[in-house]
Amino acid sequence: SNINWIEAANYDELSKIAANIFKEELQKHPEMVLGLATGGTPEGFYKELVEANKAGEISFEKAQSFNLDEYVGINAANKASYHYYMDQQLFNHVDMKNDNIHLPEGDKIDLQAAATQYDAKIEAAGGIDIQLLGIGVNGHIGFNEPGTPFALGTNVVELTESTREANKIYFSSIEEVPTHAITMGIQTILNAKKVVLLISGASKQEAINRLRSGVITEDFPASALHNHSNVTVIYTDVK
Ligand code: GLP
Repeated sequence: SNINWIEAANYDELSKIAANIFKEELQKHPEMVLGLATGGTPEGFYKELVEANKAGEISFEKAQSFNLDEYVGINAANKASYHYYMDQQLFNHVDMKNDNIHLPEGDKIDLQAAATQYDAKIEAAGGIDIQLLGIGVNGHIGFNEPGTPFALGTNVVELTESTREANKIYFSSIEEVPTHAITMGIQTILNAKKVVLLISGASKQEAINRLRSGVITEDFPASALHNHSNVTVIYTDVK
């Protein structure tokens, strides 16, 4: 497999290694297109980027970003939305221009049109230079659940009960967790020039083992990454 595995001593080191990959690219190529992810795992990564921006080491002024996914039916004002998460973790604290920030729009009436337009926007920007990813315990990437055809672009998906359960901590109750999301497809992710996958915590050990096994199957969405030529996985089981 083409996957480059980096074991970090702990979560802090994982965040720093990941941030350094993006920082170096931004320094070489300030107009880079970043592919961004949400969840608990990249929080330390975003702190590193904010600090580096504050210290003047990197600038986002010419950069663009595309997020992986968003819930259907909620907007940036909702504290559980990924847009709100991104504002809090990164966008409110760095010099990126608003017009250069993109997330799938889960509050549109014609979601399928919004999904198709999202892929067109990524293409028009020249494609994603580095796509950050986390992984769900069931191997999902973005919101591409097990069984998703690898050939799909950005699309509207129904969330599994286990994913809704895992994400309910961000909502007041399970009933509030949206049933659908809009996500970059596996093909959208594979189109990125480089992929950086972060895996942290004991609950992800089985996912690490399945990815390491090298078996490529739509039952385990992250295994599609074996079909990409430039993937770095940074992992740790120490929080
Ligand atoms: C959500 C997101 C994924 C993320 C996953 C793992 O389902 N849609 O993009 O990778 O959760 O999140 P965490 O890092 O919090 O375990």
